Amino acid sequence: MSSSAAALLGDKKAAPRRFDRVAGTYDLLTALNPGYHHHLRLSAERLAVGPGARLLDLCCGTGSSTAALRAAWPDAEIVALDASEGMLARARAKAELRATFVLGDATDPAAAGIEGPFDGILIAYGVRNLPDADRGLANLVGLLRPGGRVCVHEYSVADSAWARAVWNAVCLGVIIPGGLVTAGDASLYTYLRRSVLDFDGVGAFEDRLRRHGLVDVHTEAMTGWQRGIVHSFLGVRPLGSGPVTR
Ligand SMILES: C[S@@+](CC[C@H](N)C(=O)[O-])C[C@H]1O[C@@H](n2cnc3c(N)ncnc32)[C@H](O)[C@@H]1O
Repeated sequence: MSSSAAALLGDKKAAPRRFDRVAGTYDLLTALNPGYHHHLRLSAERLAVGPGARLLDLCCGTGSSTAALRAAWPDAEIVALDASEGMLARARAKAELRATFVLGDATDPAAAGIEGPFDGILIAYGVRNLPDADRGLANLVGLLRPGGRVCVHEYSVADSAWARAVWNAVCLGVIIPGGLVTAGDASLYTYLRRSVLDFDGVGAFEDRLRRHGLVDVHTEAMTGWQRGIVHSFLGVRPLGSGPVTR
C-alpha cells in the first residue's frame, strides 16, 4: 500500500480533500464501472418511500446517487450533502437533479444546517469513509421521521472469501490502474481497496444498524461482478420512536 493511502486510512477526515483532487475525473471512472449507476438506482428504489417524499443523500459526491434518487422518486424533495467542495461543484452543475446541495460533514449534518425529518436517507459509498461511523449513523437515524427508511449502499466483503478474492482482483486489475490513468494518482483507489477490506462484514454491519435502533434491518444484493460485494443495507426507524436526539 502507498504511504499516502495508509495515511488516509489513519485519517479519514482527510478523505474529502482527496476527493477534491479526483472530482474532475470521478464521473469518467464510474462510467467505466459496469453496473455503478444501475446499482445506485436499485438502492434508491429500495428506499420504497412513495410519492412526495423528503429525501437526504449523504456523501452525494458528484451527484450519481442524487441522480438515482431523482430517477426513482421524480417528485421528491431532495437535499444532498458532501464535504468535498470539488465533488459538490460537479453535482451542483447538474441542474436536472433538482436538489439542494449543502457543503458539510455527514457525521453531523445538523451542523451544516440540515434539519429533519426525512422520509428516506441514502448514503452511498459514504459510511466507510466517516472517521466516526457510529456517530454518523446515530445522527442519521435522528434525522429520520418515525417510520422513515435508510439505505446504506456499501461494499462489504469480510464475510466471504470469494467476495474478497473478486474485490482484490478487480482493484488490482482495473480500479487502481484506472485511477492512475484517469486521475494520475492512484492513492485514493488504493485507499478504497484497503478501506473495503477493513470494513464490517454483512452480519456485523446489520448488527451495527440494529444497535442504532433501526428495525426490519436486512440486506439486498446487486447484480454483475458486484453481487456479494456491494449491498443495499436497509432499515427503518421504528414508529413511536422518540424525538430526535444528537
Ligand atoms: C465514493 S464517493 C460517493 C459519491 C456518491 N454517493 C456516489 O455514489 O457516486 C464518497 C463521497 O463521500 C464524501 N465524503 C467523505 N467523507 C465525508 C464526510 N465526512 N462528510 C461528507 N462527505 C464525505 C467524499 O467527498 C465523496 O464525495
